[in-house]
Amino acid sequence: MFNLGIKAKLTLLYALLLGTELIFFGWFLYITLSKSLLDATDTRTKAVAQIISKTVLRPSSSLGLPQNFDQILEKFFGIRTAGKFIQIMDQSGRVGPKSSSLKGFKIPLSNEAFHNALKGKITYETVNIVGRYPIRVITYPIMNKGIMINLIQVGSSLESNLDTLASLLYILYIVIPLGIILASIIGWFMANGALKPVDDITSAARKIGIKNLNERLVIKGPRDEIGRLAETFNEMIARLESSFNKVKQFTSDASHELRTPLTILKGEIEVALKTERSVDGLINVLKSNLEETNRMSLIVSDLLMLTRMDRGGERFEMKEVRLHDIISEKFEQAKLLARDKNVTVSLINNSKLIVKGDPVKLRRLILNLIDNAIKYNSDGGAVSISLHRVDGFANLVVSDTGIGIEEKNIPHIFDRFYRVDKARTRAEGGSGLGLSICKEIVDAHNGSISVKSKYGRGTTFTVKLPAL
Ligand SMILES: Nc1ncnc2c1ncn2[C@@H]1O[C@H](COP(=O)(O)OP(=O)(O)O)[C@@H](O)[C@H]1O
Ligand SMILES: [Mg+2]
Repeated sequence: MFNLGIKAKLTLLYALLLGTELIFFGWFLYITLSKSLLDATDTRTKAVAQIISKTVLRPSSSLGLPQNFDQILEKFFGIRTAGKFIQIMDQSGRVGPKSSSLKGFKIPLSNEAFHNALKGKITYETVNIVGRYPIRVITYPIMNKGIMINLIQVGSSLESNLDTLASLLYILYIVIPLGIILASIIGWFMANGALKPVDDITSAARKIGIKNLNERLVIKGPRDEIGRLAETFNEMIARLESSFNKVKQFTSDASHELRTPLTILKGEIEVALKTERSVDGLINVLKSNLEETNRMSLIVSDLLMLTRMDRGGERFEMKEVRLHDIISEKFEQAKLLARDKNVTVSLINNSKLIVKGDPVKLRRLILNLIDNAIKYNSDGGAVSISLHRVDGFANLVVSDTGIGIEEKNIPHIFDRFYRVDKARTRAEGGSGLGLSICKEIVDAHNGSISVKSKYGRGTTFTVKLPAL
C-alpha cells in the first residue's frame, strides 16, 4: 500500500479518530438539540391549547369567541400569542374563530389528527402553510362526557428552531474541519516527539563504523521500548567491537609469530651468502633453515585449522571412537617424548570408554595436553594420565608436577597465541595455539575442558566428553 512513514501514519490515525469522534459528536448534538427544541415547542403550543380550553371555551357547543380573540387572550390571560396560529373548530372540523395571524389561511386538519381527536387524543404534526418555514401544529380535542365537542389547533412557526439548528450546523462545519486540522498538527508534533529518539538512534547509528566502534549511543530517555532499543544496539556494537578487536589481535599475533622465524631464516641465509662456507657449514645452515620452515608450516597449519573451525569449515569425521585405545597409543608416544626431559609418565587408569568423535582431532587434543605436561615440567618431574567414566562422561585427566600457571594467567591460556613465558615456549617449539585448538576440538564434541594449577607445583587439565 502507501509507503507512509510511521509519523504520517500516526498523524493520519490520530486525525481520523478525532474526526470520526467529532462527526459523531456533532451528529448527536444536532439530533438531541432538534428533538429538545421540538419538545419545547410542543410543550408551549400545548400550554396555549390547554389555557384556551380551560378559560375561553365553555363546555358548550357554542363558540362565543370574537375574531380578535387572540388579542383578548394576550390582554386578559397573559398568553403570548405572537407568532402563534390558533384556530378553533367544531366537532365536524369546520373552522370557527381563528387568530388574526392566520389571515386568509387556515391550518389543515389531517385525517389522522381528526381521528385521534375523536378518541380524545392530542396530535402533533409539522405542516407547511405560509412562508418558508414549516409550522408545528397541535390538534387538541375538547371532550365532554367522552365526546369531542371542539378542536383547538395551535400552530407555532419552526423558524427559530430551524435557525438555531442551522447556526449549530454552521458552527459544526467550521469546528469539525478545524478540529481535524488542529488534531493533525498536534498529532504530527506528538509523533515527532515520540519518534525523535528513534531518529536520534538512526543518525547516531549511521555514524558508527569500523573506525569508531568504541563509540556508543547516548541513552538519555527512560528505559522504555526506545531506551531498550538503544541499549540493545549498544550491546550489539560492543559485541562487534570485541570480535573485531579479536580479529585484529589475531592478525597481528599471527604476523608477529611468523615474522620471528622469517627473520631468523633471512639472517642465516644472508650470513651464509656473505661468508665463504664449507659444505658442512652450508648443510648446518640448511638444517637450521629447515627447522624454522617446519615451525612456520606448523603455525600456518594450526592457524588454518583454527580459522576453519571458526567458520565451521573444518570437517569433523564423527564416529564411535575407543578413547582408551587412543590413550594407550599416546601414552607410548609420551614415554618417548619424556625420556629426553627426564620426566616420568604414568597411566594411572584407562577405563574402556567409547565416545562419538573425530579420532584425528581427539589424538591432537590428547597429544597437545600431554605435550604441554611434559614441556612445562621440571627436571625429574612426573606426568600422570587417567581416563575414567563419571556421570556419563569420559573424564580424561592429564596432571603434571611442573612449573604451574599463575592464577592471573589462567584465564588467558586458551587464548590464541597466548604464552606465559614467550622465550621459554619458543625454545620448546610452541606458538601458543595448542590450547586454543584443544578448546575448539572439545567444544565441537560438546565437551568441556578445565584447568587447575598451583604455581610452581603443577597443573591438571580435565577434559569431559559425553560417553556412549
Ligand atoms: N601443563 C602446563 N603447565 C604449565 N603451563 C602450561 C601448561 N600447559 C600450558 N601452559 C601454558 O599455557 C600456554 C599456552 O599453551 P599452548 O596453547 O599449548 O601453547 P604452547 O604450548 O604452544 O605455548 C603455554 O605457553 C604455557 O605458558
Ligand atoms: Mg602446547
